[in-house]
Amino acid sequence: MRVSQKSLRFTESVIREMTRLAHRHGAVNLSQGFPDFPAPEIIKQEAARAVMADVNQYAITWGAKRLRDALVAKQERFTGMAFDPEREVTVCCGSTECMAAVMLALVDPGDEVIVFEPYYENYGPDAILSGAVPRFVRLREPDWSFDPAELAQAFNARTRAIVVNTPNNPTGKVFSRQELEQIAALCRKWDAVAVTDEIYEHILYDGAEHVGLATLDGMRERTVTVSGLSKTWSVTGWRVGWCLAPPELTNAIRKVHDFLTVGAPAPLQEAAAVALAMPEEYYVKLADSYRERREFLLPVLERAGFKPIPPRGAYYVMTDISDFGFPDDVAFARWLVAEGGVAAVPGSSFYSDPAAGSQRLRFHFARKRETLEAAAERLQLIRTRLPARPASLTRG
Ligand SMILES: Cc1ncc(COP(=O)(O)O)c(C=O)c1O
Repeated sequence: MRVSQKSLRFTESVIREMTRLAHRHGAVNLSQGFPDFPAPEIIKQEAARAVMADVNQYAITWGAKRLRDALVAKQERFTGMAFDPEREVTVCCGSTECMAAVMLALVDPGDEVIVFEPYYENYGPDAILSGAVPRFVRLREPDWSFDPAELAQAFNARTRAIVVNTPNNPTGKVFSRQELEQIAALCRKWDAVAVTDEIYEHILYDGAEHVGLATLDGMRERTVTVSGLSKTWSVTGWRVGWCLAPPELTNAIRKVHDFLTVGAPAPLQEAAAVALAMPEEYYVKLADSYRERREFLLPVLERAGFKPIPPRGAYYVMTDISDFGFPDDVAFARWLVAEGGVAAVPGSSFYSDPAAGSQRLRFHFARKRETLEAAAERLQLIRTRLPARPASLTRG
């Protein structure tokens, strides 16, 4: 039977494939970015209460009122920006659905969408599904900065949107205010929308500051700010995310969202409202706990023979694997999961041109200390297991 051309233009998620391989080989899974530690008690209790209180039917399609109110209150508390819960908020099934709904709502086939690479792998299929033509702009190591001239050249009259993910997956880059000002100036010049994925907004290290693009001059009316519960509250399986955008954009996003999923899980929206009201201290502890994990994992990776590029935010670390002598990242990742007992993600899955990531591997550290220690034990042995001629291994 025939399937759509669209569906043929992207492959199955490499990240989720690595998770399956991790299960098959009994490996420590540092590939797909989700925590293996418990979610906060207070929000689990509220979710259970809501289920038992029979908050079990469809919520309002664009989000339960209690959650939308909590969202705008939290946004005001952290950024000083006021949003209208009735006209500027859409709650979706995770930020993943938000991103897809935003692209489908704002982009016409043939419009261009600028995406920084390496990128979170969903942005590619999102662009294809909405008919957008992606234009990639490279973030370059070691600080993952972009060339302002290259960015300026990527904008043109067909540019409809730019996707900015800060703090960034997979690099851990936190875009500076100056970089965001450059992006903002180009959005204003070319009348483009900024879609900012801020799902790691509270996971920051070394004094890095998270700046929301919507807070910059002239950007509130042309920015869609996407975030969600998954990372900050360690509940990736709940599938609750949201976006904040001016009313005309929100109108279109809400319509697409309604016909995609009707709405996010009603009882979990109640729990999300409790999550968003948590005190400042919660966020400080969260960032501290990830800083400790990062500080544990970076030297482990170095000792094992990787060259990690320290992240300034989010919970991933990109590494250079060139010292291992493998022909490419996929061969290395498959070898590492089967023979080394640790799963990570091949760097090529974050680039439009796989060659650009062929000597990179991404680890995540949203793991309990014991899990990271188990990974460390295995990683310290990998050099002793290296095949005699790794260059002869192929992707196969
Ligand atoms: C940058 C980024 N955006 C979005 C998501 C998915 O978020 P959600 O669980 O809200 O769909 C992830 C998950 O890894 C991510 O890394």
